[in-house]
Amino acid sequence: ARFSEMKSGAVGAGLVVLLLLRGECMRGVPRRRRYTPDWESLDSRPLPEWFDKAKFGVFVHWGVFSVPAWGSEWFWWHWKGEGLPQYKQFMSDHYPPGFSYADFGPQFTARFFHPDTWADLFLAAGAKYVVLTTKHHEGFTNWPSSVSWNWNSQDLGPHRDLVGELGNAVRKRNMRYGLYHSLLEWFHPLYLLDKKNGCKTQHFVRAKTMPELYDLVYRYEPDLIWSDGEWECPDTYWNSTEFLSWLYNDSPVKDEVVVNDRWGQNCSCHHGGYYNCQDKFKPESLPGHKWEMCTSIDKVSWGYRRDMAVFDVAAEREIISELVQTVSLGGNYLLNIGPTKDGLIVPIFQERLLAVGKWLSIHGEAVYSSKPWRVQLEKNTTSVWYTSRETTVYAIFLHWPENGVLSLVSPVTTSATQITMLGIQKDLKWSTNPEGGLLIYLPNLPLGTLPVDFGWTIKLTGVK
Ligand SMILES: *[C@@H]1O[C@H](CO)[C@@H](O)[C@H](O)[C@H]1NC(C)=O
Ligand SMILES: *[C@@H]1O[C@H](CO)[C@@H](O)[C@H](O)[C@H]1NC(C)=O
Ligand SMILES: *[C@@H]1O[C@H](CO)[C@@H](O)[C@H](O)[C@H]1NC(C)=O
Repeated sequence: ARFSEMKSGAVGAGLVVLLLLRGECMRGVPRRRRYTPDWESLDSRPLPEWFDKAKFGVFVHWGVFSVPAWGSEWFWWHWKGEGLPQYKQFMSDHYPPGFSYADFGPQFTARFFHPDTWADLFLAAGAKYVVLTTKHHEGFTNWPSSVSWNWNSQDLGPHRDLVGELGNAVRKRNMRYGLYHSLLEWFHPLYLLDKKNGCKTQHFVRAKTMPELYDLVYRYEPDLIWSDGEWECPDTYWNSTEFLSWLYNDSPVKDEVVVNDRWGQNCSCHHGGYYNCQDKFKPESLPGHKWEMCTSIDKVSWGYRRDMAVFDVAAEREIISELVQTVSLGGNYLLNIGPTKDGLIVPIFQERLLAVGKWLSIHGEAVYSSKPWRVQLEKNTTSVWYTSRETTVYAIFLHWPENGVLSLVSPVTTSATQITMLGIQKDLKWSTNPEGGLLIYLPNLPLGTLPVDFGWTIKLTGVK
């Protein structure tokens, strides 16, 4: 008996009774729907609710690339894969001849890594989930993987289980925990062999990818698997649908786990759980499928780099604007920082994260658990974004109008309409606009007395 259609309680109860009468239900417990290892079946799984409600997460790129900490987390590839002159020069200028990428390993000490300090910061940033790189394309695992011999954080470098330690700290604070995992490894000999065979052999997948993914799920029971590094081979090479059907049917996280869409060539934006599409993807209009924008405070790199300049760092207004636009368009916003090799988060990243947290402490009501409204972007402006919660509508505006009067075209007022501003106690004065919509008279407060400097929210009840 397969329970593919069990939707509402009433229908479900009816089916249970029916099946009990027909003796098709083992011990009276309806069997869960089972997914088959194909995209049609896997794509039909409803996304666990927590993810859409969460809206905001922190992404952490940390690994051996945090040791050279120069250029970007793609350091090894730029140096040895592409042979870019500036990377070769950097190495010959600063390291002895023959120094290999593996020689950076012991310097990844994580000496000052205090998972509780990180988790406190992410919580104060307003994050509802945290995603850590368990293994980037370099292949170094931030947990004691038994299939990453001498290239993991227990045998080398920190001599600690970084994935486990951060997970405990994050969960203690009721945030969800996500694991980034790269399917490919740039220079793994078995991967190179499979690639030479046109992705027709699976030596690497059998020896590495699959054992790692199952190990991560059993050890850490992640809420989210953020897959990456899929683009060189088809999903049939990666056995993605086999893994996902196990994950959804039989794994210890089958009910709550969420995955993204990077599970094989041409898969992203088409198959999987929610969609990332490309890095920093930003749709123009409301997509038909749950999505997440991932982006980095350092606009140039995901991993920490010492050559970061202040101009490369996203400003608070850019971050808030993107968060607002993303949530209004039904997405989640995953904002990245790269810690240093010794486990510190530099103050400029702390400052940006805390700014988001401060903004969310006042405007969270318009963000968390919100749904897109019937209009996303106010027709008459480029800077008023709507969200909603049940019958309440939120208009988040990013520019303070010069005359102090905000014009909204889309909401239709009724005799019950009430208008307030988040962070301000009293109701606002408003009137209907003869040209359509309404005019809202913003509070005339002395400079510096508004609860935030940028991005304000009008709360409308009793509108249509
Ligand atoms: C991939 O899945 C197929 C079909 O279940 C199986 O025969 C094969 O051994 C799997 N390969 C790996 C590397 O797990
Ligand atoms: C992915 O798309 C490209 C371009 O459309 C195509 O050449 C390639 O064969 C596709 N790969 C797979 C695995 O479908
Ligand atoms: C649209 O915006 C312009 C410029 O801010 C303003 O003059 C006009 O009244 C607005 N139109 C409506 C219908 O609100």
